[in-house]
Amino acid sequence: VVALDSSAMSDPFPIAVLISGSGTNLQALIDSSDRGELGCAIVVVIADRPDAGGLDRARGAGIATEVVGWDDHTDRASFSCAIADTIERHGARGVVLAGFMRILAPNAVDRFPNAIINVHPALLPAFPGADAVPSALSYGVTVSGVTVHFVDDMVDHGPIIAQEAVQVFPHDDEEALHRRIQAVEHRLLPEVVAAFGRGDLAVDGRHVVWTTSADVSR
Ligand code: GAR
Repeated sequence: VVALDSSAMSDPFPIAVLISGSGTNLQALIDSSDRGELGCAIVVVIADRPDAGGLDRARGAGIATEVVGWDDHTDRASFSCAIADTIERHGARGVVLAGFMRILAPNAVDRFPNAIINVHPALLPAFPGADAVPSALSYGVTVSGVTVHFVDDMVDHGPIIAQEAVQVFPHDDEEALHRRIQAVEHRLLPEVVAAFGRGDLAVDGRHVVWTTSADVSR
């Protein structure tokens, strides 16, 4: 079991949040932080595109923002290296991918072992990738959900920290299902990040052990 000593390193634990879109999950993290529940300080919000709506949410909350443009780099490795450099320059020790729609190369992931958390809008290993919600709908599943997991060198694959099911209704469209999935994300992701910030998560192979009674993983 690898005990993650996030809380021991500094208080509150400094994290970077990476986004590509509107940033409703970022907002949930900011709201949790404002309530004093996150146990982490969001020291920077990084987007892969300058028009990511979540950048305005970060600015509104007084959080530093950075854009590391996907289009400004020739390949995934150089983009990923620039992301990792930016995270480190701001002093972040943990990373949350909150609707970040790029795959980080191993050269970045390996710089933050068991310290990058991703939220995915399906019950992994079902429906990995960028189109999880429409893929689940067109497959015809009656249950989908949310996965929060540590990031490793494979796409949507690292050890699962928490999952929660969301019912799929017969007449759901993508928007309706994604809205209910996001409502769960907005609760689950801050809970996981808070546990991470407290140092309450330990990785044992593919399993994540919650070391307190505040266990939302099952
Ligand atoms: C979230 O639903 C998140 O699960 C998903 O993007 C959305 C971002 O919304 N992520 C992925 O699909 C990653 N493969 P937000 O910008 O409003 O937080």
